[in-house]
Amino acid sequence: MTTAAEPAPVVEARGLHRFFRRGGDEVAAVRDVSFVVGHGELIAVRGPSGSGKSTLLALLAGVDRPDAGEVRLDGEVINFRDAPDPATARRRTIGVLTQAGGLIEHLSVRDNLRVAARARRSTDDVDALLDLVGLGHRATAVPSQLSGGETARAGLAVALIGSPRLLLADEPTAEVSATEEQSLLELLTNVRPSDGATIVVTHSDAVAGAAQRILDLSAGRLVA
Ligand SMILES: Nc1ncnc2c1ncn2[C@@H]1O[C@H](COP(=O)(O)OP(=O)(O)OP(=O)(O)O)[C@@H](O)[C@H]1O
Ligand SMILES: [Mg+2]
Repeated sequence: MTTAAEPAPVVEARGLHRFFRRGGDEVAAVRDVSFVVGHGELIAVRGPSGSGKSTLLALLAGVDRPDAGEVRLDGEVINFRDAPDPATARRRTIGVLTQAGGLIEHLSVRDNLRVAARARRSTDDVDALLDLVGLGHRATAVPSQLSGGETARAGLAVALIGSPRLLLADEPTAEVSATEEQSLLELLTNVRPSDGATIVVTHSDAVAGAAQRILDLSAGRLVA
């Protein structure tokens, strides 16, 4: 009998630390955070304001480098203290949805998707993606004309371009009604990477309830 090697987890965070200097003080925004996310998992990250949620997401996204520790994606180290340029290295495999949607203000929704597709060298059909997130009828709108829910959907479409292995979302439902939150949640659950990983920062019980696992942060540390 042969035993195939276990595939690496999609995401592996090991001993992540991130410090910020503020005036004479040093703020430990993320302290010794380690966790893994398996294939197809949806994980929620919770914690009070200032507990390090966005800082952790930036480390996972390769937008920021940790002071110690490393981030692996599918077993490959993508971010560490001296990483040459984690963002460039992983642009095509990590999709990020921020609260403001991360959209370029003077471009239409469709053109925002086109720009993202070009940046990721993706040939994804942007109109099909807009239909998938229920925004086909808003393709020519500019971001300032979108509601909170539509902004979240547009941001999600941008994040999904190129079928990322890892989908990161920072409070995607913070600006929407409870009804819209429920429908965004269903959408996210349906379109997230089926074999990859999804990590959602949220204050919402509904979003946390849809997750397979919850990571609770307190003052930069994971609490059991
Ligand atoms: N660039 C920075 N420079 C200095 N301090 C920072 C920086 N970014 C974050 N911090 C500090 O690190 C800590 C964690 O911030 P972070 O934004 O990660 O919290 P959060 O959990 O996302 O909070 P919120 O729920 O309000 O979004 C806070 O004390 C914050 O002030
Ligand atoms: Mg935050």
